[in-house]
This record gives sequence, C-alpha cells and structure tokens, in this order.
Amino acid sequence: MTSEQDVDQVQPSVEGVPPARAGAVTAKESGAGGASGESALVVEHLSKRFGSRVAFDDVSFEVGYGEVFGFLGPNGAGKTTTVRTLGTLVAPTSGSATVAGIPLSADNGAAIRTRISIMPESPGLYLRLTVMENLQCFAGLYELDDVRGRIERALRAVNLLDRAGDSCGSLSKGLRQRVALARALLNDPVVLFLDEPTSGLDPVATREVHELIASLRERGVTIFLTTHRLEEAERLCHRVAILNTTLRLLGRPDELRAQLFRRSLDVRLRAPLADPEAVFGAVREVEGCEQAPSAGGYTLAVSDPEIAAPAVARALVGAGADILSIAESRHSLEDVYLELIDEDVEARRG
Ligand SMILES: Nc1ncnc2c1ncn2[C@@H]1O[C@H](COP(=O)(O)OP(=O)(O)OP(=O)(O)O)[C@@H](O)[C@H]1O
Ligand SMILES: [Mg+2]
Repeated sequence: MTSEQDVDQVQPSVEGVPPARAGAVTAKESGAGGASGESALVVEHLSKRFGSRVAFDDVSFEVGYGEVFGFLGPNGAGKTTTVRTLGTLVAPTSGSATVAGIPLSADNGAAIRTRISIMPESPGLYLRLTVMENLQCFAGLYELDDVRGRIERALRAVNLLDRAGDSCGSLSKGLRQRVALARALLNDPVVLFLDEPTSGLDPVATREVHELIASLRERGVTIFLTTHRLEEAERLCHRVAILNTTLRLLGRPDELRAQLFRRSLDVRLRAPLADPEAVFGAVREVEGCEQAPSAGGYTLAVSDPEIAAPAVARALVGAGADILSIAESRHSLEDVYLELIDEDVEARRG
C-alpha cells in the first residue's frame, strides 16, 4: 500500500462488528427518494478545505436507505473529496454527517468503515494476483468471516465466477471494474460509494456495469454514485445532486427539469410560416414563440402542453400549414446540468 489511491481500498473491520445488512431493506420499505425516517446518509453544512483551496463548501443533503443517489458535477467540483470525507479517508473542515447511522468523527472512523465500501475511480487491483487472490487479500484486510461464501456471492453478483482463476492483469478494463465492484460488495455494505464506476469504459462494458448497478438497486442497496455521465444518473438514480463546490440543485431528475425549464411544444412544419407571430399569437394557450434552427421549426412556451397542442394544431391547419409533428419538448438531465454549469461560468465572469 503505497499510493493514496491504495488507501481507498483498505477498510479493515474492527472488533468483529458485523456489517448491517443493506440487502434486507428494499427501496420501497425505506421510502427511497425522500429523506424521511432514518437516513443512510445525513450531511449537514459539511465543508472541506485543503489549505486555502475549497474542495466543497456548506453541503447538506440526506440519502434514504435503499436509495441510489447521484452526485454530479464538473471536474474539480469536489465529488471525490465528498466521497473521501464521508468514507472517513479525510476529515471534514467543518459541518457534520452521519454515515450508515454512525456520526462521522475520528473515533467512529473504523466502525463506519465496516458498514460502507468505496469503489474508487481506478480499480487499484494487484495485477499479478488472480481475481480470487485479490478478493481473498481484501477480505483478509477487512477481517471478514465466511470469506469463501462472501467471495462467491460477490463474484456471482458481478457475473465473474468463471474468471476467478484469471490474473487481474489479463482482464480487460471493464472486467477489472467488475472485480473492483465485487471487492466493494465483500463486506455487504450498508452504503456503497461508487466514484465514476464507468469512467473510461466502452459502451458495452458501460452497459454491463449499469446492469450490475441496476440489480443492486433492485436488491435495495444504498448507493452514492458520482458520475459525469448524465444519462447514467438519469437512468439509475432515484435523486441527483449537482455540485459545483457548493450544492447547486437536488431532486428527482424530472423535478429538476420542471424547476429549470418552462414547459414547451416543439412544432415542425413542412415549410416556414409567412407570419408565425400572427398564427401562434392568436392561440390563447401559447405564451411565447421562438424559431428553431431548422426551417419550419418553432418552440412554443405553454403552461399545459396537453391543452395547447390541439389548439396549436387547429390554428396551423387553419393557416394552411403542413404539420410534420407537434410534441412536448424533452429536456434531459444533461440540459439541466449544462444550464446550471453555464450559469456558474457566467457568474464567475460577472
Ligand atoms: N489531497 C488534496 N490536496 C489538495 N487539494 C485537493 C486534494 N484533493 C482534492 N483537492 C482539490 O479539491 C478540489 C476538488 O477535487 P475533487 O477531486 O474532489 O473533484 P472531483 O469533483 O472529484 O473532480 P473530477 O471530476 O475531476 O474527479 C480540486 O480543486 C482539487 O484540486
Ligand atoms: Mg473525482
């Protein structure tokens, strides 16, 4: 264990405290998606500075048991430092947190580490050892009981039982990532921290890791997932937080979209209208109109797309236009993210 990265892997258990079962609590039972009742993570006004550099500042949120919580933000936003802080690898500068039911403090570090796992961005495996030897080695560091059973269950969870005898050096990047995930599952964590689990993977390997995370989600494992891949967060996470040193936004992806974007209709016509203002201005439900970049395309601001769409269709037919499509505009989490991060860049300029 020489590099700082290696420190991430070592989560020795203490006094044989058995880790609490995460799989026993389902997302439904725990009310995942909200912060009601006891929470897997409670973070209050947490900040971390390295000298004069602020890694993250005044961050507060809660994560329910069984919830998959996405933590998004640009490079240097403080995501990994948040994981490292909640994972007891670095001490916060101020604020407080409860991790897997235990208050975050220097004294509680060892107890917290028995109940959580961190899968760091780089797998950090011993490449000359086999998959099995790597897992045995880490199970030893955790001082876990029933090592055989745990390794078998972890390898089965990531579909790697048949590669147990292969050296990690001979595995592809995607397979190594799966070994790292198996290692993180060994202690049956109450909270599983995944730091960019699909970074650098091709689309096939990415999809495999997504499927594994989705199956953990089904089993009710509480997951704290940092990612740059917004479609990953949208697909896997009950709620997401967007961090850029401070927490900028938190909620379900659909809530965030509704919060940041007005509802609108995308209209596509075979040919542009001679006088769009006159046609759309006459429809009571339309509050504004913008020409889209493509010829014959318009984006209409509306309060209720379901009421506005038929009225717009009638007006267009009345004006003799050929309608190709009228549909509610879809904003992805990526739109939300870019809107926010753009705002931050603008604010910095100002
Ligand atoms: N050990 C450290 N010493 C000094 N500064 C640090 C240390 N670790 C992180 N930082 C700084 O804290 C800030 C947040 O870094 P962090 O690694 O948490 O960002 P991140 O959101 O994980 O970024 P990325 O998306 O690139 O992984 C950065 O400015 C970084 O340089
Ligand atoms: Mg990081």
